[in-house]
Amino acid sequence: MKIKNIHAYEILASGGYPTIECRVELNDGSVGVASVPYGVSAGIHEAIVLLDHDASRWDGHGMSQAISNINDKIATALVGQDASAQRQIDQIMINLDGTPNKAELGGNAILAVSVAVARASAESAGIELYQYLIDTFQTGFNPKELPRPMTVVIEGGKHADHTTDLQEYCLTATRDSTVSENVRMIMETYHQLASVLKENNFSVNVGNEGAFAPSGIPSNEAPLVYMLEAIKRAGYVAGQDISISLDAAASEFYELGTYNLKLENRSLTAGELISYYETWLKKYPIVTIEDMLAEDDWDNWSKLKIIAYGHHTDLIGDDLTVTNVERLQKAIDLQAISAILIKLNQVGTISETIDCCLLAKKHGLMTVTSHRGGGETNDTTMIDVAVAVGSRYIKVGPTRGERVSKYNRLMAIERALGLVPPRYN
Ligand code: PGA
Ligand code: ZN
Repeated sequence: MKIKNIHAYEILASGGYPTIECRVELNDGSVGVASVPYGVSAGIHEAIVLLDHDASRWDGHGMSQAISNINDKIATALVGQDASAQRQIDQIMINLDGTPNKAELGGNAILAVSVAVARASAESAGIELYQYLIDTFQTGFNPKELPRPMTVVIEGGKHADHTTDLQEYCLTATRDSTVSENVRMIMETYHQLASVLKENNFSVNVGNEGAFAPSGIPSNEAPLVYMLEAIKRAGYVAGQDISISLDAAASEFYELGTYNLKLENRSLTAGELISYYETWLKKYPIVTIEDMLAEDDWDNWSKLKIIAYGHHTDLIGDDLTVTNVERLQKAIDLQAISAILIKLNQVGTISETIDCCLLAKKHGLMTVTSHRGGGETNDTTMIDVAVAVGSRYIKVGPTRGERVSKYNRLMAIERALGLVPPRYN
C-alpha cells in the first residue's frame, strides 16, 4: 500500500514544551498517527532532537524546523513509496539526512514519520502494531511472554530538584505473574512508599516521571531502605515478588574523571564509586543497575559488570549504548553490559531500534524498553516495540497520564491475548 500523505505539527509534551506528532495516510485510507518523546538527561551519543533555537518561540524549544523538514523534504521523498517496506522507508530518510546522528532533518522528525508509517501499515494490514513489527522484522518473539513493570518510584538527578544524585529508584516485578497482577503489586507498594516517606517527614510531591522526589533526603542509600519497608508493608517479599532497580544516569554527575555526589558532599573516583555501589549490591535485592558510570567510561563499565555478575545483578547500558548497534557491539566486545535500555528516539527509526534489539538477542542480552524523562506523550509505541522484541521489562513512571497510558496499553494487549483470568477482563 502506497503512502498518500504525510503531515506533521507541534503538540504539547509532558514537560510543557512542544514535540512532534505526525499523521501518515495511505492510499487505502489507513491512517497512522505517532508522537515522539525526548529525554531530560539525554546521552551525548543520541540522535539529535532538532530544536528551532529561536528564542521568540517556546524559549527556543520549538520544533517548527523539524516539522517543515517532514512536511517538505521527507514528504516529497516518501509519498508514493510502499509503506510496508519499513526498512526502505527508514533508509530513505537516513540517506536524505546524511549525517551520523540525524542532525540535518532531526531524529525527532525522522522517528515521527517512521512510527506513523508503521502504524498506518499495521492498520492497513488489520493487525496490532506489535504483531506487525514481529511479522515485518521476523523478530521470532512470542507476544504471550509479556514484559514486566520496572516502575520508577523515586526520582532525583536531573529529574527533580534537591534530592538524590542518582536519577531513578525503581520497583521491579520479579514474580512470574500476569501484567495486571504485577502492575497492581507495584502500585500498592508505591502507595505504601508514600506512607513511609510521609512518616519520615518527606513530601510526596512527584517529579517529572510521576515518581516521588523527596527533597532533603539524607543520602543516596536512604530510598533503598524506604523501598524495602514499603514492599514489606504491602505484603510482598523483597527479592522474590518485587526487587529494586537503579539508574544512576552517572554522566550527569561526572566531570573530568570524577564522580561528584553533591548530596553527600563527596567526589569519588570510578573505583571508589564501584565499591560504594557494591555495598548496596550486598545489602539489597537489586536486580538491575543502569548507567552507574559515565557514557564513555568503558573500562570501568567492564569492571563493574564483573562485580554485578557476582551479585546476580544485570548491568544495563542506556546513555552508554543509546539503542545504537555500533555502541552495543562495542559494549558486547568489551563485556561492559548484560542488558540494554531501548528508547526509540535515541536512534530515530523503527528499523534501527529493532536491529539493536535483535543484536542484543543474538548475544543473550536482556532488553528493557523505556519511556523518556522529559517530554513524553500518550503515544504507546514503546509498549508494542517491547512486546515485539521480547523485552523483559518496561521502564515507566508510576503516575501521570503519559506514563499510565503505557501500562494501560500493555494490560490491553494482555487482555486481547486472553492472558488474564476472565474476572479481571
Ligand atoms: P531521560 O532519562 O529520558 O530523561 O534521558 C531516562 C533514563 O535515563 O532512563
Ligand atoms: Zn537511564
